[in-house]
Amino acid sequence: MVGDGVNGRSGEQHDRWSTVLAHLIAALPGDAGARVAVDGFDGSAGVFADRLAAGLRAAGRPCVRLPAAACATSGEDRPPGAVVVADGAGWIDRLPAGEWHLTVWVRTAPAGPASGGPMPGVPSPGGYAGDRADAVVDLHDPAWPVLRHLNPALAAGESWYRSESQAFFAARAATWDTRFGDDLPAYAAAVADAGLAPGGVVADVGCGTGRALPALRGAVGPDGTVIGIDLTPQMLAAARDRAGTCAAALLLADARRLPLAGGSVDAVFAAGLVNHLPDVDAGLAELARITRPGGRLVLFHPSGRAALAARHGRPLRPDEPLAEPVLRAATARAGWRLTSYDDPPHRFHAVAVRA
Ligand SMILES: C[S@@+](CC[C@H](N)C(=O)[O-])C[C@H]1O[C@@H](n2cnc3c(N)ncnc32)[C@H](O)[C@@H]1O
Repeated sequence: MVGDGVNGRSGEQHDRWSTVLAHLIAALPGDAGARVAVDGFDGSAGVFADRLAAGLRAAGRPCVRLPAAACATSGEDRPPGAVVVADGAGWIDRLPAGEWHLTVWVRTAPAGPASGGPMPGVPSPGGYAGDRADAVVDLHDPAWPVLRHLNPALAAGESWYRSESQAFFAARAATWDTRFGDDLPAYAAAVADAGLAPGGVVADVGCGTGRALPALRGAVGPDGTVIGIDLTPQMLAAARDRAGTCAAALLLADARRLPLAGGSVDAVFAAGLVNHLPDVDAGLAELARITRPGGRLVLFHPSGRAALAARHGRPLRPDEPLAEPVLRAATARAGWRLTSYDDPPHRFHAVAVRA
C-alpha cells in the first residue's frame, strides 16, 4: 500500500508500515474529507505524516500534505473530499481540537542531552500531547512502527490491538532479558510479598520471558501448578528454557479471553500487563473470572509509576489505570478488593483479593 518497502528491507517491515497505516486510514470518516494532525518530539512526526499521506493516496484517497515548515506561509487549501495531513504544533494550534478528525502522536526514544532534545519528562516546546492524542504510534525503530493506542470511538472494536501488541513485544523478545535481566531479585521479592500458598495454581498472565516463573514455582512448591500465559509467540519462545527448568506450563492466549475455567486458579500474577490492555475493566474482570473466591491478584512492575513515566518521557497522570484511586475503583468493579498498594521508585506492587 505504501510503496517500495521500508528502507529496502524485508517484506515483514513493509507489512508493518502497511498495517499501521491501514488501521489509521480505517479510523477516518469514509469518503468524506478529514483532517489529520501528527505531532511528536522530533522530526519523526513529519516523516510519519509523509508516510500516511502516501498511504492515503495509494488507497485512493485524495490527500493534501501540510508540512510543519509551511505553516507560517500558507493556508489550508483543501479540495472537497480530500484528507489533510498536517504535522507540527503550528498547524494543530490553528484549529480548535474538535476540527481534527484524528490526532496522532509519534513516540520516539525519550530525547535526552545526547540527542539534543528535551529531557525525559520535560514537555517539548509544543507540549506533550501523547496522552491526549487519538492514536499513539511507537517509532523507536523507523522500520518497525507500532500502533500503541487508538481512540475506541474511532476504531471498530479492538481489531488493531492484537496485531499491534504482538508486533511491539515480538520486536523486544530476543533482548528482553539482556535489557532487564537485573530485575530478577525484584520479581522474587514481589512474589515473596504476595503471600501465595504452597500447593496452589498460579497463572503469570503476560509472562513475557518468564522472569517471575522460578519465584512462582518456589512459592507454590513442587505440588503446585505454574502457568505462564502470553499473547506474543516470540515472548513464549524466549520463556521456554526457564519454564522447562521450573516445570511451568506455557500457554499462548489473550488475557482478555483466557482458555481457563472459572475459578480455576488460586492466584494471578501480572507484571507490566494491565496498562497494556485497551480496556482495563474488561481485563480485570477476566482475571477475576478465572480466580476462585479468596484468590489473589498480584500486579507488579520493577519500577514505580513515577520512575517509569520519567523513563518514558511522559508526565504522570492522576487518572492512569494504576493510580491508587483509579485502580481501587476498577478492581472493585471487576470483583476484587484491593488489599495492598505500594508505589515507591523501585517497584509497583499491588495485591487484590477475589471478592
Ligand atoms: C511489559 S511486558 C512484561 C513481561 C513480563 N511479565 C515481565 O515482567 O518481564 C508485557 C507482556 O504482556 C504481554 N501481553 C500484552 N497484552 C497481552 C494480552 N492481551 N494477553 C496476554 N499477554 C499480553 C506481552 O506480550 C508482553 O510479553
